[in-house]
Amino acid sequence: MSSIKIQKICCIGAGYVGGPTMSVIADKCPDLEVRVVDINKDRIEAWNDSDLTKLPIFEPGLDRIISRTRGRNLFFSLEMEKSISDADMVFISVNTPTKTKGLGAGQASDLSWVEASARQVAKYAKGHTIVIEKSTLPVRTAQAIKEILKTTTNRENQKNDISKTFSVLSNPEFLAEGTAINDLEKPDRVLIGGEDPEAVEALVNIYLNWVPSEQIICTNLWSSELSKLAANAFLAQRISSINSISAFCEATGADVQEVAKAIGTDKRIGDQFLSAGPGFGGSCFKKDILNLVYLSGYFGLPEVANYWNQVVLLNTWQQDRIYKIVLEKLFGTVNGKNIAILGFSFKANTNDTRESPAIRISCDLLEEGANLSIYDPKVSVERVEEDLEKTSFNNQGTWKMVNSIPEALKNVDAVLIITAWDEFFGLDWNYLASLMRSPAWVFDTRSVINRQEIENTGINLWKLGEGS
Ligand code: NAD
Ligand code: UGA
Repeated sequence: MSSIKIQKICCIGAGYVGGPTMSVIADKCPDLEVRVVDINKDRIEAWNDSDLTKLPIFEPGLDRIISRTRGRNLFFSLEMEKSISDADMVFISVNTPTKTKGLGAGQASDLSWVEASARQVAKYAKGHTIVIEKSTLPVRTAQAIKEILKTTTNRENQKNDISKTFSVLSNPEFLAEGTAINDLEKPDRVLIGGEDPEAVEALVNIYLNWVPSEQIICTNLWSSELSKLAANAFLAQRISSINSISAFCEATGADVQEVAKAIGTDKRIGDQFLSAGPGFGGSCFKKDILNLVYLSGYFGLPEVANYWNQVVLLNTWQQDRIYKIVLEKLFGTVNGKNIAILGFSFKANTNDTRESPAIRISCDLLEEGANLSIYDPKVSVERVEEDLEKTSFNNQGTWKMVNSIPEALKNVDAVLIITAWDEFFGLDWNYLASLMRSPAWVFDTRSVINRQEIENTGINLWKLGEGS
């Protein structure tokens, strides 16, 4: 048994990872007190809203867990100092986006928020504190965190004559949005990297409340940090691989669904992550691969950097090629044409739009002068507005957000299905065709339509990865 007894946990960052992860820890460990802190006042207020439909993130099953833990042993607050100083264990779960300026801009991760968090911990912690990297970080970031904790603390200790000590662990998160609660409750594995056996054991003991011991993998710090980047790179690589094959299918008359099934039955390949689509979105795949590319260059491995960079290039190409196909099928111009966009989040079952293929494709169409009616069951109009304004440089068209599929399809020349929300499957295309202008086109980038459903409706159907 670890001699370190954990009673209070603090998590810095109440985002898509911090919120659900801490909710599940609080749920599974009722004897622990879990405090999630953030600098974003609106976000904390939303986490504390009594109306659970107003939680800042939509994640199936999250409201159920929040309703039984919040106020019991789970608290969301802005109170940084007390939450850190009371805690035996502090998780850092802040954003680590790609740098936009300075050395490594466009590739390296921006660690400003991680560094700020480490400084807060160094300043406010008391006694011995286990600091855990939950954010996805470049390899060897733990070393930087240790340095910050050590140097800032030395100064603090001299000033206040108190002693504080730290152990730093890496415990990357592998949840996927939309399935986060299931991923957290039944993880394939939990990964813990660290050099201090007592600290490692203390964290293992928390997970043992619900994760079988054989699924808890302990490694050294650097393997743990790198495994997270490598896992995301491998997953994204599979998507770029199948997307490259989707283009091949369209060119040759093969069908990417059939190919995916045929290759996926080989146990060595496996059937997961073989759905061709409009390119991967989400806040992490692109940023984590670019980070890997940057680090490969930094460590003098340009061939490795080029290899991984190709995964991102193919992803951008896939999004670009979809927009060009729409243009080509609509006689080379969408200027003044009405187009419905079904789905704006980067995948189904989340309200997250970060790096959503819908943003780039919509902006390209707007720049060509299209009028878009956008429908998504969970994404807010404010979110869409911010995304489109940030990305579109020369917007010639118009866009509006609507509340239903029929409203989106009224008088449109074409429909683009970009996210595979459940409600887009099995639609009454006979009825929907009557709302559209002809010649009507449906561009299905997620294989939600069965070709028979659309037969005899007069609609032209283009399906990604289906050759004619
Ligand atoms: P997010 O942007 O949703 O949340 C981060 C939160 O941290 C924000 O609310 C922000 O206000 C807060 N924050 C930033 N600096 C702070 C500070 N100094 N003090 C207090 N709060 C601060 O990000 P996310 O999606 O939760 O991702 C967090 C990390 O987890 C990233 O490194 C990401 O790569 C990784 N990750 C994300 C996912 C995912 O599905 N989103 C999955 C696994 C890992
Ligand atoms: C991904 C990983 O799956 C998680 O393990 C990881 O923790 C997380 O990134 C992270 O580090 O942030 P997430 O981005 O939430 O999770 O969702 P995914 O299910 O991986 O989907 C990512 C993108 O790939 C989506 O746009 C999705 O539509 C696309 N995708 C996924 C495909 O196009 N085809 C597939 O077969 C699978």
